Amino acid sequence: MSKNIRPQRFLRALQRDTVDCTPVWLMRQAGRYLPEYREIRKQAGDFLALCKTPKLAREVTLQPLNRFDLDAAIVFSDILTIPDAMGLALTIEESYGPKFKRPLRSEKDINNLRVPNIDSELGYVMETIKIVRAELEEQVPLIGFSGSPWTLATYMIDRNSRDDFNAIKGLLYQQPTLLKKLLDVLTESVTRYLIAQARAGAQTLMIFDTWGGVLAHNDYLEFSLLPISIIIKELKQHNESKKIPIILFTKGGNSWITQMADTGCAAIGCDWTMSLSAARKLVNDRVALQGNLDPTILFSSPKNIEAQVKYVLSDFGNGTGHVFNLGHGIPPGINPSHVATLVDAVHEFSQNGHAV
Ligand code: CP3
Repeated sequence: MSKNIRPQRFLRALQRDTVDCTPVWLMRQAGRYLPEYREIRKQAGDFLALCKTPKLAREVTLQPLNRFDLDAAIVFSDILTIPDAMGLALTIEESYGPKFKRPLRSEKDINNLRVPNIDSELGYVMETIKIVRAELEEQVPLIGFSGSPWTLATYMIDRNSRDDFNAIKGLLYQQPTLLKKLLDVLTESVTRYLIAQARAGAQTLMIFDTWGGVLAHNDYLEFSLLPISIIIKELKQHNESKKIPIILFTKGGNSWITQMADTGCAAIGCDWTMSLSAARKLVNDRVALQGNLDPTILFSSPKNIEAQVKYVLSDFGNGTGHVFNLGHGIPPGINPSHVATLVDAVHEFSQNGHAV
């Protein structure tokens, strides 16, 4: 593969320019399914220490690229770094997932929240971006990211169990003005955070709206998509970020694809419940599409993985504007060699016809 084509494949597909074959990267490409990740994670002591030590975060960012023929890198961090920087103090518990030592429990807690100082509180993310960019040179582009304000809020409000959205939905229906206040602080924080990532060298920015899909139709538009649109508009007006393509991913967001395409994003991430050809018709090739293999397929045989990759490629159909990905993150516990099968299959089966 020529050195000049490879670095451009992902960025060209995002702009819907022609590519030699379909680019592929995978959400959570760095993570617990890799033994070398688990080793560094142990060395770091805990997850947040790993994120906050740029030397180690650099190493785990690059680990999947050393193993697989991926077309993009994503900076190793987490969406919950913003609430952590706001003073909520993040911990990741092995059997529970993310938890805050000081979640939002009262109106006063929300009223007291401030936009964090990005340089002093989140500078470690920018530092990792800088060193990874310097090391990648122009081999493959580097993606920076943030959670959406709504998704961050779902984690910040105190709740009893991890899959319980009653607390945040209760706030939405009982005190919408208070929720909007929280979303406003987060909107400004995410905007500044993403601009800082662009300034540090991120070449694409992705907004993860993991929990937008739990909202009722009109509530999604008002409480999840509106703050996201404000962020994108701001990024498009700012010198340091205006040329950077933005990928917007709402898990379970199929019903809102046309409205998502109106935000000014370059691409929409699709989960596996939607046909890419149907999504493509809806957006009328105005934006690129990213996705959308069901991650659990990685537990099946290499032969089946290849067949499913072929299916996703043919579902998207001919023409450009497709970035291959999973519909959500790589699950822990899969065999890393299955990721190699997937990545190689995407390149091999998209050379003639699919991506022109
Ligand atoms: O994609 C990558 O390789 C970059 C790194 C990345 C992580 N988290 C590392 C991580 C990214 C892009 C994220 C985003 C993220 N974090 C999202 C949005 C995407 C999605 O999955 O919907 C969300 C909702 C989170 C919040 C979060 N952080 C959860 C739910 C968990 C626990 C999940 C689990 O697997 O236990 C985390 C922790 C986390 N973030 C891990 C990793 C590798 C596992 C932590 C560990 O090493 O123990």
